[in-house]
Amino acid sequence: MAAAKLEKQIVATAVIFVMTLFGVTASSIPLFGIGLPTCVTDVKPFTKPEVFFYSPTHYEVHYVARMWNFDPPEVTVPAGSTIDIYLSTADITHGFQLLGTNVNLMAVPGAVNYARVKLERPGDYHVLCHEYCGTGHQNMATVIRVTDPLAPRAVPVAPEQPDQRVGHLGYQVLQNKACLACHTIDGKPSTGPTLKGLFGDMVELADGSKVKADEAYIRESIQNPQAKLVKGFTPTMPQLPISETELAQVIEYLKIL
Ligand code: CUA
Repeated sequence: MAAAKLEKQIVATAVIFVMTLFGVTASSIPLFGIGLPTCVTDVKPFTKPEVFFYSPTHYEVHYVARMWNFDPPEVTVPAGSTIDIYLSTADITHGFQLLGTNVNLMAVPGAVNYARVKLERPGDYHVLCHEYCGTGHQNMATVIRVTDPLAPRAVPVAPEQPDQRVGHLGYQVLQNKACLACHTIDGKPSTGPTLKGLFGDMVELADGSKVKADEAYIRESIQNPQAKLVKGFTPTMPQLPISETELAQVIEYLKIL
C-alpha cells in the first residue's frame, strides 16, 4: 500500500514538473517575444535571393548562403517588423545565426530552413555563419538593419566611403566573439556602450567617478567586464576567452575607430 502511495506521489510530482515546464515555455512566447523555432518547410530549395513585402511590418526574406556570403547582403526593415526567414544554400552547409535573437539555422544543401523573428529594437542585427565552411568562413556575415520609424530622416550628405576598417583584424575579433551584438561601432546606443570614439575618451562609471579609456581600461573591461561599470548600462557583459593577440588587435582597432 505504501509503495502505491509513493508511486502516486512520484507521478503527481512528474505531472506538476511537466506542466510547469510547459507553462514557462508557453508564457515565454508573449512575455519575451520568443518564437518557437521551426525547421520543416514545404518550400522548394531556391538559389535566387528575394525579399517579399507583405506589409510595412511584415517581410519574408529568402536567403541564399554560399562560400562566403549571404544573399541578399543587406536587408533594412522598420522597428517592430516580423521577418519570415527562409534559408537555402547554393553550395555546402553553412550556419545562420542572427545575433541578439534566438534565430539559429543551418543552410543545408537540398533543404530549406525557416524561422520567424520579430525585431523590436532599432539597430544592426548581424548574421554570422557558424558552421566552418572554408578559408572565408570567418568573414561570412550579413546584416539586417532595423530602422527607427520615429527618428527624423537623415539628410543625405556625400555618398558614404566604403569603410576600410571593417577588414581590420580587431573588427574580425569583435565579430567572431559576437561583441557587436551589444556594442555598435557607429556611435549608436545599444545594450552596451558604443565602441566608436571610446579609446582615449573619458568614461563615466556607475559610481560617478571618471576614468580614461586607455589601453589598461579596455584590457580590464574585456577580461573582467564587471570591474568598472559604465554609468547607465547593466552588468550583463559575459567574460569571454580572448587571447593576448586578439586583445592587442581589438585595442589597435579601437584606436582608429
Ligand atoms: Cu559559411 Cu562558415
